[in-house]
Amino acid sequence: MKVLSVTSEMYPLIKTGGLADVTGSLPKALANCAIQTTTMLPGYPSVLARLPDLLPLTSFEDLLGQRATLFRAEHEGLDLLILDCPTLYDRDGGPYINGAGEDHHDNWLRFAVLSKAAANVANGALPGWRPDLVHTHDWQSALTSVYMREAGCDVPVVLTIHNLAFQGQYGADRLPALDLPPHLFNTNCLEYFGDISYLKGGLQTSDMITTVSPTYAREILTSRFGMGLDGVLNQRVMSLRGIVNGIDMDVWNPSTDPFLPRNFDSTSLKRKRENRAPLLERFGLEQGDGPVFSAITRLTWQKGMDMFAEAADEVLYQGGRIIVFGQGDHEIERILRRTADRFPGRMAVHTGYDEPTAHLIQGGSDAIVQPSRFEPCGLTQLYALRYGCVPVVSRTGGLSETIIDANDAAMSARVATGFQFHPVNTDGLRLALRRALDTYGDTRNWARLQHQGMKTHFSWERSAEKYAAIYNNLLARRQEATD
Ligand code: ADP
Ligand code: GLC
Repeated sequence: MKVLSVTSEMYPLIKTGGLADVTGSLPKALANCAIQTTTMLPGYPSVLARLPDLLPLTSFEDLLGQRATLFRAEHEGLDLLILDCPTLYDRDGGPYINGAGEDHHDNWLRFAVLSKAAANVANGALPGWRPDLVHTHDWQSALTSVYMREAGCDVPVVLTIHNLAFQGQYGADRLPALDLPPHLFNTNCLEYFGDISYLKGGLQTSDMITTVSPTYAREILTSRFGMGLDGVLNQRVMSLRGIVNGIDMDVWNPSTDPFLPRNFDSTSLKRKRENRAPLLERFGLEQGDGPVFSAITRLTWQKGMDMFAEAADEVLYQGGRIIVFGQGDHEIERILRRTADRFPGRMAVHTGYDEPTAHLIQGGSDAIVQPSRFEPCGLTQLYALRYGCVPVVSRTGGLSETIIDANDAAMSARVATGFQFHPVNTDGLRLALRRALDTYGDTRNWARLQHQGMKTHFSWERSAEKYAAIYNNLLARRQEATD
């Protein structure tokens, strides 16, 4: 089966978060289920720079007013279609924001063009290659199915929601420039509180909707987590599934990780300790004993780092160290720095985005703190488990089902892997940090948690099979309809 995956980011070419990890690792796992994935993504400068051997396939003279070329490339076993459109993608900054941290002014067009090009490919724009199924991800590629249906293309589409907080909502006056007919501006398609919502359009026109954990799939049906789209999702509930993300076991492997000063595995956990001094040095913290509690995260309301800033003294008064590495909201950064200033040499807040540093933090920390207010899946806690870090997480979304709380029952059954807290507020986090610190003081129980975490298996195998089953089902349904 040939699948066209359409995405705005993909590891290792371009990444701002977990979406890239998923779109970069799922194709490899699907290959074992006889599914060949070709991934289409924009030709951002950093992507083009890493792909010297591009093969032009076709040119679009007028793609929503833009000229674009589609190139084929291969990178580390990934089969790619790169949409080169310099007027839209040749920019400084990241895929979504400019150097000043503001959204690119024409994101509405940049991702509509990506979706339109993908729809054209699904509809046979490439001589000799046509996908059997299209898989879109988040709002940035959600218009693909809208364009496809409008062109009469009935190739099945699966849309995965990685994060409902981002929806691609723009003024209805954009409709003509999007080359979409006015009749689509209705509540059953694009209309959303008087605006256009790309994600809603995708939800209404895809055959199946998935999200990245079963718990989040249930949560988004409620007004608390539905972000205004719970009504639409409830209408489509029979086509909604939750599939927990897997991790790339090669990229995140402490026994071979090139970014760790000292490699280790569950049988040589003592060696993990040797990553501690280089980690503390890297972040300008005092050397010494005491636990290192870290966070590697986007700084947004979602991730709850403001709560960590307030509860941090819990760790610091116990002789611990804290490292926060992330970027995003300047106000959250300010709140974190205010706490760090009170504890010089003990707490470091570094802004930036750097893959090797993220690996080093996992390699040298004792605990990873994730007090998310909502979390569709979360990958950082899965990497933490593999690296012998104990996750301290809020009980929400994917966090609630990937981490087993160290309550008495789970400890005596030897299945606990971390600490969960609920309700999700500063006091809840404080209590969880206190529990984690108490357990850290009990060397045997802490080591047990580490070992149990390292034993858990979040590779893609099982989850890829679930995606494959959905794909196969849709193809069978289509076949039946045409017979
Ligand atoms: P989200 O996608 O919501 O940001 P996930 O936990 O699914 O959350 O994925 C986050 C990914 O981004 C992980 O691979 C994590 O290591 C990475 N990451 C987050 N912040 C940074 C950073 N400052 N530098 C490098 N990697 C980061
Ligand atoms: C989103 C979510 C995160 C999830 C990731 C990959 O960014 O916030 O929870 O792990 O997508 O699916």
